[in-house]
Amino acid sequence: MLQFEVNKPGCIRCGECVFDCPARIIGVGEDGYPAIPPEKEVSCIRCEHCLVVCPPGVISILGINPAASLPVEGNFPDPSSMETLIKGRRSVRRYREENVDKALIERMLEVAWHAPTGVNSRQVRFTVLDDREKLIRFRDEVMEGLVRLSRENRIPKSMSYFTLFVKVWERQKVDLIFRNAPHLLIATAPKETACPREDCLIALSYFELLAQSNGVGTVWNGIVKWALDEMLPELKTKLGIPQDHVFGYAMTFGVPAVRYARTVQHTPALIHRPL
Ligand SMILES: Cc1cc2nc3c(=O)[nH]c(=O)nc-3n(C[C@H](O)[C@H](O)[C@H](O)COP(=O)(O)O)c2cc1C
Repeated sequence: MLQFEVNKPGCIRCGECVFDCPARIIGVGEDGYPAIPPEKEVSCIRCEHCLVVCPPGVISILGINPAASLPVEGNFPDPSSMETLIKGRRSVRRYREENVDKALIERMLEVAWHAPTGVNSRQVRFTVLDDREKLIRFRDEVMEGLVRLSRENRIPKSMSYFTLFVKVWERQKVDLIFRNAPHLLIATAPKETACPREDCLIALSYFELLAQSNGVGTVWNGIVKWALDEMLPELKTKLGIPQDHVFGYAMTFGVPAVRYARTVQHTPALIHRPL
C-alpha cells in the first residue's frame, strides 16, 4: 500500500504531481483530484516526486508528512561555494589521531544515503568502522594478511606494488595503505540491483563532498578495495559484507592533520562535441 493521500481542501489541482511522476501512474480521479488507481500502485518506484513537487505540500505518500521535508527554495549552496568545494576537496593522507564525532558520521551517512540510485533501488549498504581502535585492529589484520600472501608469493603480478607496502610496513611500521586514517567506509550493493557499482560510487561521492564541507578529510582508497576484494576476501566476510553484494568502493576518512590553502588548477576539461 502506497498510502497516497491528497489533503483535498489545500490541493490547487495544478497537475504537477501527475506530470512529474516518472512511472506515470498518477491520474485524476472522478472527483477531480490526483489519485493512483490500485492496480498501478505496483509500478511506483517510491521516488516521492509527487510529495516534493506539490506546491502547497498537500500530498503524502508512504506515510510521509510533507511538512517534515526541508524547504528547497533559496537553500541550495550558491554555485561559487559548490565550485570551491569541488575544486578544493582533496585526498587527505594525513590525519589526527582522533575519532570523528559519531553523531556527525551518522548524519553524513544518512544524508549521503539520499544520493540517487538506479530505478530508485536504494540498496547501497554502508559498512563503516567509526572507531579508531577498531580501524587499527582491522588495519593490522589486513597487514598480516598481506605479509602472509607476500611470503607465500601469492600477490598477483598485476598488484606487485603491494609487496612494497608490505616491506615498508615490516621494516618501518609505516602504513601506506590506510595512512593512519581513523575510519573506513565501504559501500556495497546487491548484485541483482540495476546499477550496484554506480549506486555505490555516487553515494560515496556525495559522502565525500559532504564530509569535506564538514571539515572531515577523505580519500578514495583503491588499495583497500583491491586488498579486500581481490586478495583477502575472508576479511570482507569478517566485516559482514554479504556474498551477493558488489563491492563498490572503499573510502578512508578522519579529521585532517593538513590544511589546503587553495584549490588546484587542473588542465582544461576534455570535452568532446561531436557534429
Ligand atoms: C578511484 C580512486 C582510487 C584511489 N585510490 C587511492 C589509494 O588507494 N590511495 C591513495 O592514497 N589515493 C587514492 N586515490 C586518490 C587519487 O590519487 C587522487 O584523487 C588524485 O591524486 C588527485 O588528488 P586529489 O584527490 O587531492 O585532487 C584514489 C582516487 C580515486 C578516484
